[in-house]
Amino acid sequence: MPTPEIAVTGATGQLGGRVARRLAARGTAQLLVVRDPARAPELPGATVARAGFADAAAVRTALRGVRTVLMVSASESPDRLRHHRAFVDAAAAAGVEHLVYTSFLGAAADATFTHARDHWHTEEHIRAAKMGFTFLRDNLYADFLPALAGDDGVIRGPAGRGRVAAVALDDIADAATVVLGDPAAHDGRTYDLTGPEALTLDEVAGILTGATGRTVTYHPETVAEAYRSRAVHQAPGWLVEAWVSTYTAIAAGELATVTDAVTTLTGRPATSLAALLAPENRRIPPA
Ligand SMILES: NC(=O)c1ccc[n+]([C@@H]2O[C@H](COP(=O)([O-])OP(=O)(O)OC[C@H]3O[C@@H](n4cnc5c(N)ncnc54)[C@H](OP(=O)(O)O)[C@@H]3O)[C@@H](O)[C@H]2O)c1
Repeated sequence: MPTPEIAVTGATGQLGGRVARRLAARGTAQLLVVRDPARAPELPGATVARAGFADAAAVRTALRGVRTVLMVSASESPDRLRHHRAFVDAAAAAGVEHLVYTSFLGAAADATFTHARDHWHTEEHIRAAKMGFTFLRDNLYADFLPALAGDDGVIRGPAGRGRVAAVALDDIADAATVVLGDPAAHDGRTYDLTGPEALTLDEVAGILTGATGRTVTYHPETVAEAYRSRAVHQAPGWLVEAWVSTYTAIAAGELATVTDAVTTLTGRPATSLAALLAPENRRIPPA
């Protein structure tokens, strides 16, 4: 079988898996670049290669002959940026022409949300690599919002009255699939992918209560309270900072942007949180 023109990373995960299933449903041949082939989804037209981002030799071999790659950002770790840079360099060396990278809304060297800084530096590395690129700067996943509530139904964090325009994973996957279908048409473009509305966490709590029947409330913490309430997890400092800065980014207004990028790319409105939580509206089951 000839090497597919499109490769997808992260296919064992939520977002990459969704995109891979969409490409397969369209009859598009694809190469799934995964760390563990045994966990790769079995899809018509898909072949599988084993390569972690930091394994430059494996990435180069896997991507030879591939023209376009969906690079789903790696799991958060202190050395994620090194993994990203290694992958980008190996993709360029393999002759990849276009990288579609899943970044984060407001990616910047001084972004409040610490993970958004990694995304900025990754974007910069991709720009410098002289490949075509498209950046999909995703807001927080709307699918992730229910998990903000603790066992007691309280969302705790220093988000003040800030707003977040969280975006549904299915919307990101649909947008990514459109871009992969015609990368040249999106070359050099950055899309801020957001939901249709910017909600305070009070409003999020109200929607979660309405959708689940379980009472969810929001308790705004101070930053000091946020660090104290998370100390119980004994997590490394960089991770706690990321958790807390999710909320301070909301407080700072950095996640409040609402765009029409989902609509522009997919031709339909972005999914609201209430619609996402309504089971009858799920178009494709979660991975
Ligand atoms: N916008 C948001 O709210 C938000 C929330 C969470 C995460 N994210 C970011 O968005 C990415 C995709 O989200 P998701 O929900 O699809 O995450 P996910 O379900 O955890 O999937 C991550 C995927 O990336 C693969 N991966 C992770 N590190 C890798 C590495 N170093 N080399 C190669 N593959 C690697 C994983 O492979 P394995 O199965 O082998 O682990 C998995 O397939 C995440 O990785 C994270 O960077 C964004």
